[in-house]
Amino acid sequence: MSLLAYLECSRCQTQFEPGKVYNLCTCGGPLLARYHLKKLAGRRIRSRLDARPANLWRYREALPVKSESSIVCLGEGFTPLLHAERLGKRLGLPKLYLKDESRNPTGSFKARGMAVAVSMARELGITKVAVPSAGNAAGALAAYAAKAGMEAAVFMPEGTPLANRLECEIQGARVVLVPGSIKDCARVMRESAGSQGWFDVSTLREPYRLEGKKTMAYEVLEQLDWRLPDVMIYPTGGGTGLIGMWKAFGEMQEMGWIGPKRPRMVAVQATGCAPMVRAFQQHSEKAEEWQNPVTLASGLRVPSAIGDFLILGAVRESNGTALAVEDASMLAAVRELAQTEGVFTSPEGGATLAALKQLLADGIVAGSETVVLFLTATAYKYMEAMETIAAKAT
Ligand SMILES: Cc1ncc(COP(=O)(O)O)c(C=O)c1O
Ligand SMILES: [Zn+2]
Repeated sequence: MSLLAYLECSRCQTQFEPGKVYNLCTCGGPLLARYHLKKLAGRRIRSRLDARPANLWRYREALPVKSESSIVCLGEGFTPLLHAERLGKRLGLPKLYLKDESRNPTGSFKARGMAVAVSMARELGITKVAVPSAGNAAGALAAYAAKAGMEAAVFMPEGTPLANRLECEIQGARVVLVPGSIKDCARVMRESAGSQGWFDVSTLREPYRLEGKKTMAYEVLEQLDWRLPDVMIYPTGGGTGLIGMWKAFGEMQEMGWIGPKRPRMVAVQATGCAPMVRAFQQHSEKAEEWQNPVTLASGLRVPSAIGDFLILGAVRESNGTALAVEDASMLAAVRELAQTEGVFTSPEGGATLAALKQLLADGIVAGSETVVLFLTATAYKYMEAMETIAAKAT
């Protein structure tokens, strides 16, 4: 089962023993799970994977949950990697792939992180979990907490899509709507929930959501026949997926699954909320808070991220880039993905195609390269935004 060895602070490298409840390091740095993966090098895990379930728990050695009975599973992960032939032809990019994360429980990739976080919470005896969320993480937490028989409290911005609010309420979570952005939600949550025994599962403030999200990279490797793509384009808010996948490449190399070559990581944000893009352009290691964040892509309305230095580090080390796209281009891209490939993705997913177009136009991505777009959620959760696309069509 799990080969979890210890937790390590991503800032000061202090090590912490597993089996205990942690949020951040005393220095304020997020903790990362480290495994004894060298043990697996040379073993035939790769061929044995075929016999395992088609969900993220197939990578259980590189996940933190010790006991199988702790696992709270709704079938998360192992989403399809679709070959986008029609769209690729149009773009002059024959090797274009779409990681369709809408197929996860609760309709978004947030299910991956919450599946692992809630399973670990169960293993560690936690019974009350709380999160500030732009919407999708809240829906996922509500679902996994319900399945685990835990109490959940979710703090979302007032303008969060209706579907996210209703799924949380109906799944039995306590829902608090807060004026402002996810940052304000986090503040209100800490003021109200912090002192009452609720465990904080905010992005990177607990170590295991990242572990769930990193499995996207393991799947892409398997689905591309054990080769990594040249470029990965990821809609970035708090950055858990991007940081997680970057971490996963190191683990794969330790196990002997890949060599030192990495995909170029592209972080996409909205022009109305682009703290990482600004920091990338200013060559800075940290990102300043974005004032007055505005975008229809609710998952990208994240004005500051505790893992900013990890996001920027991964983008730079991979030789990747960070760029922002307009809401109108995201929505046009949502329509194009729907009409060429039959996928109905959220504005965040659309943002990856809008970014790809810019990168092709600027010669940063070449037509011969293998590119993966992360379509992180279903459009069914974003009916308000979809209405504006439909209205434009008539
Ligand atoms: C649909 C969607 N895409 C992307 C993101 C950003 O994800 P991350 O926090 O991993 O950067 C979110 C976060 O809420 C989201 O809901
Ligand atoms: Zn530290």
